[in-house]
Amino acid sequence: MSDTPEFPAIITGGGDLGVFIGANKPAVDAALDHAGALLFRGFNVPDPLAFDAAIEAYGEVGFTYEDSLSNAVRTNVTPRVFTANEAPPETEIFLHHEMAQTPLFPAKLFFYCEIAAESGGATPLCRSDWVLDQLRAANPEFVARVEAEGVRYTNVMPGRDDAGSGQGRSWRSTLSVADQAGAEARLSDLGYSWEWLEDESLRVTTAALPAVRELAGGGTSFFNQLIAAFRGWADSRNDPNRTITFGGGEPITPEDMADAIRIADDLTHDLAWQAGDVALLDNFQVMHGRRPFAGKRRVLASLIA
Ligand code: FE2
Repeated sequence: MSDTPEFPAIITGGGDLGVFIGANKPAVDAALDHAGALLFRGFNVPDPLAFDAAIEAYGEVGFTYEDSLSNAVRTNVTPRVFTANEAPPETEIFLHHEMAQTPLFPAKLFFYCEIAAESGGATPLCRSDWVLDQLRAANPEFVARVEAEGVRYTNVMPGRDDAGSGQGRSWRSTLSVADQAGAEARLSDLGYSWEWLEDESLRVTTAALPAVRELAGGGTSFFNQLIAAFRGWADSRNDPNRTITFGGGEPITPEDMADAIRIADDLTHDLAWQAGDVALLDNFQVMHGRRPFAGKRRVLASLIA
């Protein structure tokens, strides 16, 4: 297709990235609307403080990890910059829209590569509106059903952070509560159901959440966490066969997921990081993940409300 934009769009330059973004915000936003993902390469972004300054220059309101219902264990580096996910290098994080398994999600994400891995460690990126177009053609019944019913996610959270899992954030931290009574109050506000398990872990099931989103610029995207939940939420607490259902409670089948996964894998582009790279993603339009890696890798993230 001749009108298919370069993906991600690469903006090469030099000098201070914050100064560049501050001077070119409307053009940056237009490029982001068009491509869904931008890579800033060749600018001078030596450390997390320079990354923080570039985000500040972008000038939009942040979405904080503390307030989010994210399942990932993370560590703040500056008030708005944190480690992308503390899961072990061999763990693949599958394609997802950030926090689409909760009612609270950011509109955009920044990533910054401070240290590129020796091998692996790319960030797969995938246009979710393109996925949905193809999935509608391949499996229209499935798309109609998730559009009509929405989807529910079930996961089990430990009582204390478990950095060995991509889903290891404790319920205390996830829900910003100190005890079980606080957890139950927060969950009932969110419309979730829950069950306390032994070793003080907690199984929660979300309310039915939308699985398809209308985009501001027209079109619709496969805005959900189905692929990551189906492929990746297995750990010592979570059984991937129980994690996703239609809004009505019926299981989503592996056959339905196979279509979505095949199409998304086909449309995925791996962003192979170089130290100093910064990426900006439209979270409503583009899914991201993390390939396994070897060696030291440090990719930081920041969320825009
Ligand atoms: Fe993510």
